[in-house]
Amino acid sequence: MGNETINLGIIGTGGMAANHVAKFKEVGGCHILSAFDIDFDRARVFAEKHQIHKVYPDFEPFIADPDLDAVSIVTPDDSHCSISLKAIEKNLHVLCEKPLALNYADAKKMADAAKKKQLINMVNFTYRNASALQKARELIQNGKIGEVKHVEASYLQTWLTAKVWGDWRKEPKWLWRLSEKHGSKGVLGDVGVHILDFATFPIGPLASVHCLLKTFHKAENDQIGEYRLDANDSAIITCEYENGAIGTVHTSRWATGQVNSLSLKIFADQGAIKINLDESMDHLMLCRGDNVETSSFVPIACEATPNIFKRFITSVRTGKNAQPDFEQGARIQKLLDACFRSHQSGQTVKII
Ligand SMILES: NC(=O)c1ccc[n+]([C@@H]2O[C@H](COP(=O)([O-])OP(=O)(O)OC[C@H]3O[C@@H](n4cnc5c(N)ncnc54)[C@H](O)[C@@H]3O)[C@@H](O)[C@H]2O)c1
Repeated sequence: MGNETINLGIIGTGGMAANHVAKFKEVGGCHILSAFDIDFDRARVFAEKHQIHKVYPDFEPFIADPDLDAVSIVTPDDSHCSISLKAIEKNLHVLCEKPLALNYADAKKMADAAKKKQLINMVNFTYRNASALQKARELIQNGKIGEVKHVEASYLQTWLTAKVWGDWRKEPKWLWRLSEKHGSKGVLGDVGVHILDFATFPIGPLASVHCLLKTFHKAENDQIGEYRLDANDSAIITCEYENGAIGTVHTSRWATGQVNSLSLKIFADQGAIKINLDESMDHLMLCRGDNVETSSFVPIACEATPNIFKRFITSVRTGKNAQPDFEQGARIQKLLDACFRSHQSGQTVKII
């Protein structure tokens, strides 16, 4: 699309949408043209606050606007597939929030539809924006720490034990995340997708998973209003990588004292890498060479990575799809499906 302004529509105007708008506004040549939410009043207030001039009460005229080039989908998880498919049908490029869908079949349908129409498609695995993660991948791919043997990854949140982001008992934006009927795949679908992407991007794909999920009792009759609190809120996955390494990946909303903590430790036969995003997004800790004998780690500064909003707009301009795309969203969805099957059967599940 050369240097033309890219006109963007925001679908879903809740908590995360404000972050999308703020970040897209920082990207040169991107104009936020319109907004839509099933709650029209919320959309109107949002549009006014963010100076978005077109706001629609109905989806059809919103998506059919001939001035639209692309959409950013920031709705609850169970609507990502149907909305993406409608946008793709209208030849719109799509940035979709994670998890891409609720299962692999839907995610693959989305990836195939976007590919068929040659439209830019990306899924917001936010932590790809951490340059430490990008550097870890580069170091491993260039053989700087040798053969990876053992991995430890975690994504820990405390919002069920502390009101750091508000009171989950009272706010729909937290309650839908606790309820399968409201389209949640639990902590695994909410932030487990991030840590599965984080734990595989630098090292390579998984060959198998063994998963234990737990939904803890947290309200009378495990119900608050219309929300049945049945979605998992802690997950532990043991996994084997295709390259033979093994690891543990775990995630919880019950991690008292951890607001939003991602950590990755990668141990290889000639070195090790540690990433702790609470400490730094743009530094990793590296142990290699003589430091292996003394078990010493040194901080490595990592060159900044353009964030996904910038990468998305650049992709629309150049026609070259950046990562993570819908195919990657679908790969992670396949891991999620395998985790649920493993939890139900108590067996290790191969990723095929
Ligand atoms: N990448 C990240 O780090 C990150 C962080 C937070 C949230 N998210 C994702 O963003 C999405 C939205 O989360 P949120 O926290 O903003 O939720 P939210 O509940 O605050 O907002 C969701 C909004 O979508 C609207 N909505 C619901 N169904 C809709 C539909 N069919 N069409 C249009 N609008 C609809 C709701 O009315 C609400 O305003 C989720 O998929 C979540 O997983 C991602």
